[in-house]
Amino acid sequence: MEVLAEKILEWYQQNKRQLPWREDANPFKIWLSEIILQQTRVDQGTAYYLKFTDRFSTVHDLASAEEEEVLKLWQGLGYYSRARNLLFAAKQVVNEHDGVFPASAEGLRSLKGIGPYTAAAIASIAYNEAIPVVDGNVLRVISRLIGMEDAINSAKGEKKVRETMTKILPNSHPGDFNQSVMELGALVCKPQNPLCSSCPWQDDCQANKDQSFDRIPFKEKKTKTKAVHTYYIVLKHRDELLVRKRPAKGIWANMYDFPSIEHPKAITEEEAITQLQTALGKSFNVAHISESFKHILSHRKIQARFIIASTDQKIEPKNDESWVAKGAFDNLPIPRLIDKAQDLFWTP
Ligand code: ADE
Repeated sequence: MEVLAEKILEWYQQNKRQLPWREDANPFKIWLSEIILQQTRVDQGTAYYLKFTDRFSTVHDLASAEEEEVLKLWQGLGYYSRARNLLFAAKQVVNEHDGVFPASAEGLRSLKGIGPYTAAAIASIAYNEAIPVVDGNVLRVISRLIGMEDAINSAKGEKKVRETMTKILPNSHPGDFNQSVMELGALVCKPQNPLCSSCPWQDDCQANKDQSFDRIPFKEKKTKTKAVHTYYIVLKHRDELLVRKRPAKGIWANMYDFPSIEHPKAITEEEAITQLQTALGKSFNVAHISESFKHILSHRKIQARFIIASTDQKIEPKNDESWVAKGAFDNLPIPRLIDKAQDLFWTP
């Protein structure tokens, strides 16, 4: 066995908390504990685990309960879909699996409320399947162990942690191994002020060597995508269009599009026309209003409509605007969104 596995298993035997679901490898009880612990701390979860196992000894007992009773027992834990899924999955086990939990992580995933983490936890603890778990504690412990420079919420970072777990995971006692890493995260390798001098991996841990545990793990900021509705005015005079050069900062910096207005929600065509006429300081004759063009950027989801209009008098362009004919337009850098709508601009 890997030396790393030996060290942490020995530590686990001496230091693990005596938790009620650790007393036997009954899949029903392991499942119940893992669902409760999904979004709940061990201290708080334990009382609920005892309430549930007191009332339901087997999956059959739970499957025949009323949803109202299950919700009542769950009261205070939050994320009530967990309680509804619990009852649903109990019925699945009874009706579709003769009351026996599927004996592999893959089979367990077919039950409502069981994702990759929970499936691996149950399969390794109850059925000795050699499959690693990756939860928040595991991400912290392993990223520090290997001194990982990738964000733990990135696909690459998670993959590295999973690969490291797979490499260290012993074939015997994989459930104990998985729980030992989670336990180490809960008791020793804490987010702040980890107790490195009590750690079985202190000589193996890169973050301990580098004293980088306040930097590792880290998360990358996920930029939220913002929805915007853009209304462009494509103003024509004879064979020329009024284009706008975009500012030097922000999206599509220094590229060309058209004067526009933006809204977080869709507005009516009439409102869009009125607002664009106000923005331009000029009225125009609308020839055509396009359907919505969808365009996805890294942090923006744009829905754009193009209002094609003409004007008898050439209006005075503002600083960032100019009148251009087709030949000149074709030489300008334009965003793909504008390019996608091009055909609309030049049809008479
Ligand atoms: N968190 C979720 N499941 C756990 C387990 N089996 N041991 C320790 N922490 C956990």
